[in-house]
Amino acid sequence: GKVAVLMGGDSAEREVSLMSGSGVLKALQSRGVDAYAFDPAERDLGELKQSGFQRCFIALHGRFGEDGTVQGALELMGIPYTGSGVMASSIAIDKVMTKRVWLAEGLPTPKYVLLRRGHFDRGQVVAIPDELGLPLIVKPAREGSSIGVAKVQGYSEMVDAVDQAAALDADVLCEQFISGDEVTCPVLGSGEDARALPVIRIVAPSGNYDYQNKYFSDDTKYLVPCGLPAGEEEAIQEIVLKAYRVLGCRGWGRVDVMIDAATRKPSLLELNTSPGMTGHSLVPMSARAAGISYEDLCVQLLASAAL
Ligand code: DAL
Ligand code: MG
Repeated sequence: GKVAVLMGGDSAEREVSLMSGSGVLKALQSRGVDAYAFDPAERDLGELKQSGFQRCFIALHGRFGEDGTVQGALELMGIPYTGSGVMASSIAIDKVMTKRVWLAEGLPTPKYVLLRRGHFDRGQVVAIPDELGLPLIVKPAREGSSIGVAKVQGYSEMVDAVDQAAALDADVLCEQFISGDEVTCPVLGSGEDARALPVIRIVAPSGNYDYQNKYFSDDTKYLVPCGLPAGEEEAIQEIVLKAYRVLGCRGWGRVDVMIDAATRKPSLLELNTSPGMTGHSLVPMSARAAGISYEDLCVQLLASAAL
């Protein structure tokens, strides 16, 4: 039957999604799948049903795509889709909600302070470094691809960083910075059958793995095999699987983790339920290291589409 690759959408990650979606579309078509691009920013989702699409590959990132909304619409229309369901998607899009679930389950995540737009003052903002230390990270609670993220080095930068994040989201997450190794680990499958792919270690120019360094720079180094000390990769994979399962994720995902340089303890940053599939993206890179080609990965994900 016909397959729609949902791509584009209205979020700040629209351009990234178009890159992910075109890669997925081409891969599925190359394997003989009757696949078509579908941009929810241009067409009403209801057309999926009218046009006879039987499955959806969700290559949308960010709000209105990765956050449970599109998943809910597809549930109502009875069209199976790739990736997590409504609840896991809507929790995982929110980095603060995600932390609350992980903390409740005893999983490690950096200390944080949540600011709600309209409910904080300057005095509170400049006091946050006293609590979290410097540098610290300020981010919108529900964005991806490092959009709106700032690494704050001093008190004087706090107000601007919070204003920038608050312009993108009513919830601003201020997070302790973990100095050490930045790694990410994809997961494929669901529930007890979920398995972790190889860990990738990210070495970005001047330590800033930002939007530019994520998608456009060739200076960012991705190490897979990750070259971590013996036992650490397995420990990361184990904690990532727990993090994935407690959120109730399905199909696939990717968990971003920091490893403290001094203690070597991992801290979970976030879980992406609709990870990037661009030419610079990490799930395809890790899959390739595990012997799974980009095309095979797309076909396998599509086969896991469910309601
Ligand atoms: N939010 C981007 C697409 C990622 O996590 O890969
Ligand atoms: Mg993300």
